[in-house]
Amino acid sequence: MATEDPVKLMKQQVGKAAADRVQSGSIVGLGTGSTTAFAIQFLGERLRSGALKEIKGVPTSFQASVLAKQHGIPLTTLDEIDHIDIAIDGADEVDPQHNLIKGGGAAHTREKVVDSLAKQFIVVVDSSKLVDRLGSTFAVPVEVLPMAIAPVTQAIEKLGGKPELRMGVKKDGPVITDQGNMVLDVQFDAIDNPAELEKTLNNIPGVLENGLFVGLAHLVLVGEIHNDHPSVREMSR
Ligand code: 5RP
Repeated sequence: MATEDPVKLMKQQVGKAAADRVQSGSIVGLGTGSTTAFAIQFLGERLRSGALKEIKGVPTSFQASVLAKQHGIPLTTLDEIDHIDIAIDGADEVDPQHNLIKGGGAAHTREKVVDSLAKQFIVVVDSSKLVDRLGSTFAVPVEVLPMAIAPVTQAIEKLGGKPELRMGVKKDGPVITDQGNMVLDVQFDAIDNPAELEKTLNNIPGVLENGLFVGLAHLVLVGEIHNDHPSVREMSR
């Protein structure tokens, strides 16, 4: 194997494996992030080669829509369709029950809408994303209306979380989502019941959505490196 970045190789392989599962005529949810970017690239290649025909993409973010256009994938919106056949999306953490933390790209609100509508939601990750317990390596992103940032911060602290306002990179001030909101990254000592925490967080007035995706993923594809060679494993529960 060449001296290529192993994480990039795993992401490439797993993105390709997911893109290969898309069939002609499908409506495809297009996730956000560096792994899904490879899936979008390979979908574009399959369209150009003629192996895949007449798909329509539903982007989960500005980034996904820009990439899809770059790679020649026709786009649609939820107003124009009545179903999504397959969604491909990345994750920041995956637990053994296929529950996820998402939102590393602050796109989890639209991602949850699109991924939850898909008949098949495929998660694409490299092996570094697998954890025994959610919250071990990654904080839970929570999208918040800017005018409610103070009361939501206090409510989350009362729940035992440690919220931190996500700040921009090469931009002064906080990250602003595609919807014009802010993101709190919330560290919890332990997430014993992700389903309950997901609901509790969303019940705080001013919270739009949080990055806990519980019971949504149908299949997790994991990119791995064995003996210097990248491969893809289907993770079973
Ligand atoms: C964006 C996401 C991403 O899917 C998640 O952060 C994984 O990204 P990457 O594939 O770049 O590691 O949830 O909101």
